Amino acid sequence: MTDYVKIFDTTLRDGEQAPGFSMTGGQKLQVAKALEGLGVDIMEAGFAAASPGDFEAIHTIATEIKDSVVCSLARCNEGDIRASGEAIKPATQKGRGGRIHTFIATSPLHREFKLKMSKDEIVRRAVAGVELCRQYTDDVEFSAEDAIRTERDYLKRIVEAAIKAGASTINIPDTVGYTTPEEIQDLFVFLTTQVEGADGVTFSAHCHDDLGLAVANSLAAVRGGARQVECALNGIGERAGNCATEEVVMALRTRTDFYDLDTRIKTQGFYGASKLLATLTGNAVPRNKAIVGKNAFAHESGIHQHGVLANRETYEIMKPEHVGVSTDNLVLGKHSGRAALKDRASKLGFTLGDNQLKSLFVQFKDLADSKKEVFDADIEALILGEAIGT
Ligand code: KIV
Ligand code: ZN
Repeated sequence: MTDYVKIFDTTLRDGEQAPGFSMTGGQKLQVAKALEGLGVDIMEAGFAAASPGDFEAIHTIATEIKDSVVCSLARCNEGDIRASGEAIKPATQKGRGGRIHTFIATSPLHREFKLKMSKDEIVRRAVAGVELCRQYTDDVEFSAEDAIRTERDYLKRIVEAAIKAGASTINIPDTVGYTTPEEIQDLFVFLTTQVEGADGVTFSAHCHDDLGLAVANSLAAVRGGARQVECALNGIGERAGNCATEEVVMALRTRTDFYDLDTRIKTQGFYGASKLLATLTGNAVPRNKAIVGKNAFAHESGIHQHGVLANRETYEIMKPEHVGVSTDNLVLGKHSGRAALKDRASKLGFTLGDNQLKSLFVQFKDLADSKKEVFDADIEALILGEAIGT
């Protein structure tokens, strides 16, 4: 078992799958770079068989991204798996790590009404799927879709079969956001202690937010033995969304005293990444959203302001700068240089490449000439304006 929790970000797959959140290939690459900047361990870049555009996007991301494992989703069928294997090839060929995430539904409802398959048939499909994935990569994740509503003995059986076939990560999705913290913790304790062949296997939680419990359930799964959490920026995803990456990461970071575990995420990038995603998809982040909402570190009432002025910890459990929210009141102007601009952009959570900085600097000087003072909101607007233009 690892001594940290891996972050498997699915903003570009489960997140993008939600109505109103689809992105072009160029936009997906921008978000992928922001996720790499955050240091996510694995990014699910898409579903290669879904469309030629998604295949291309995954292939490009697997070519460009160096520091995170790039993953493609596939149903347990030959066409999907081969498409995923080809899409992640630039990553696997360069030895940077490419994963195929293959899944099949296991719950009685899905078996009877969706797949119309017997338990045995589903196990056979899972095994054949994982074995085919292994022809493309050693890094194979198997998911039992709707695992939470699956009989425990059958879930144990299919998980054991997938491990034997070569899966190194086992994901337990709460596909419909039905579970509770107590229940999922107990399930993870059961699986991590009872499944045969589980040594060296990473158990993963994938929680949806239909009851508003996705983050709480993911944290409970970690208490039960999960060492990978699947999540999406701003909590986007099917229906009510997925576990929010920034929330689960900051909960573990803020309460390491309780969980005794952390992630490897560079949290200063959260605010910028969240804003980038909101701008590209045209979906604003609610003001009161935890961690990245406009009000997350705002204090309006006199009593709160008084406390915060005396000591920020009276009403703040995290430092805003740790998630990329700037509290720096220094204003930039026409005399400010490139280094100051780069520094401010990074405090706002944006990691800029040399070309981006060059072009931003030109726009910044133009703006500074027409305006006495350039505020954080102006800089943010310039960076995001540039991003939309792509
Ligand atoms: O919610 C779900 O079950 C999924 C699977 C494809 C992992 O997204
Ligand atoms: Zn999902």
